[in-house]
Order: sequence, then C-alpha cells, then structure tokens
Amino acid sequence: MGIGVFDSGIGGLSVHHALVRRLPSADFIYLADQANTPYGGRPGEEIVDLTRAGCERLFDAGANLVVLACNTAAAVALRRLQQNWLPDYRRALGRPVNALGIIVPTIEAATGLPWEHEAERRGDKIEQLDILGIFSTPATTASRVYEIEIDKRSQDVAVFSEPCPTLARDIEAGAKEEQLREAVERHVDNLVRRIGRPPDRAILGCTHYEIIADMFRAALPDGTPLIHQPDATAGAIESYLQRHPEYDPGSSGARRFLTTGRPGPQNGLVERFWGSRLSFDAI
Ligand code: DGL
Repeated sequence: MGIGVFDSGIGGLSVHHALVRRLPSADFIYLADQANTPYGGRPGEEIVDLTRAGCERLFDAGANLVVLACNTAAAVALRRLQQNWLPDYRRALGRPVNALGIIVPTIEAATGLPWEHEAERRGDKIEQLDILGIFSTPATTASRVYEIEIDKRSQDVAVFSEPCPTLARDIEAGAKEEQLREAVERHVDNLVRRIGRPPDRAILGCTHYEIIADMFRAALPDGTPLIHQPDATAGAIESYLQRHPEYDPGSSGARRFLTTGRPGPQNGLVERFWGSRLSFDAI
C-alpha cells in the first residue's frame, strides 16, 4: 500500500518533500533510477522503457499510485504508458494502480486554469503578454510540452524554454556549488538575452533544479516569482486521492528510499536540501 515517487535520481525528493507535508500519514516509497540517470539526453524510446520499468518496480513494491516526479519522464513517457501499457498491466495485477505526472499541475498553476480549459481563439488584442521562462532538460525542452499545453489554454502567456544539458547530471553527482552557480547564471543569462528582458515568472521544469532553487533565485532578477512545481503537484495529488479512494495511500507514515544504483548516503546537496543525511537502499 502506498504512494510511489519516481525520478531518475535525487530531483524527485523535492516533490516527495511537498507530498509528505500534505499527506503526513501516507506511506511513501521513493525510487531513484540512479543506475540510468540522467534521462534528459536520452532518446525518447529509452525514456519510455526506463519509466515503465520504474513504475513496475514501485507497483511490485506495493505502491498503488506512482507519481512521476520527473519532468522528463512525464513529458516523454507518461501519456504513452497511460494509453498503451497501464490498462493491461492493471488488469494483470488485479488491483487498481495508476501513474500521474507533474506537468499537468504545473501548467494549472502557471495558467491559473484547470486542465480541461481550452482558450477561446479570439481575435482580440492581447492586453498584456505574460512571459514565462522554463528551465528544463533537453528532452523536456524538445517535447515542447509546456509551450503546447499552455498555448492551448491561454493566449496571454508566451513560453521561453532554456535547455540545461548538464545541470541535472552535475546535481546528481554533487558538483561543487561554485560550478553549479556558474551554470545557473549562464542559463539565466541565455534565457534573458533570448527574451530580450527577464521573464515575468519562471518554472524550474526539472525536479533536480529545485534542489538548488536558491541559486536560480539569486541569478534571476530580484523577486521574479518561481512557480513551485512540488507544491502544485502535492496539492493535485491530494485532491486526486480524495476523488479516487480506490488508490489506498496507506496510513502508517512509512518512508522507504530505494535506488537502482549504488545504495548509501546521498551527496551534500541532498543533505543541504533535506536538512539531514539521507541514505538510499538497493531495490
Ligand atoms: N529530475 C528529472 C526531471 O525533472 C530528470 C533529470 C534527468 O535525469 O536528466 O526532468
């Protein structure tokens, strides 16, 4: 019984943290696919296969609901898995299981509109264009999921994406803060130059970047609002569970942290973010 949280590595801990705050008595199993991280530069088919394998491991470990706490997996694989794999898998398992992502709640938070909303294609003049900057992995950027889905819902938001090819890998490896700070400043600078001015709001569209959100805050102009993906996701999952009692989240407050990679304590960036040492077990 419980909620599975999946990421290629440590980034999903940012979502796990917000989920636990909302659902303190639920049982959580976190799985980091550290044997295969990072996902962001991989071909789509590989991301789909790895994400399916991660979900299967979490369902086998007892999760009823898996949260893909990884933009790359959610952008590239989620719809495919929901349509082509989950229905048969659920039938074979003989119990209700589901996988949900983090992009839908983030887009709802960014637009202030429910997912079902479709923009009227009006001819009116747009009074004010809200510029949204998104930092993400190359695979998420290439999927254009944020641009496409936001454009369907709101004509008043223009999305600019900045791919950060090595950042998730370096966060995962526990790179020096100086190196990470320089990379973040370079990416913020690239985005601002491309837009021609700072964005009105920003999304850290890779869960790894939340681990160093303070560096993004420092590099962006003072007070640039960051849409907080982990909170948006935790709120959406809480409300989903209320509407779907068939996915029992458990009630003993159990926490397990598993990895496909090397078990043991995680790097110093995790410790700084988490507030204490965190160790993963081998799955
Ligand atoms: N944390 C992930 C994301 O949100 C994946 C990063 C990666 O593995 O490249 O996109």
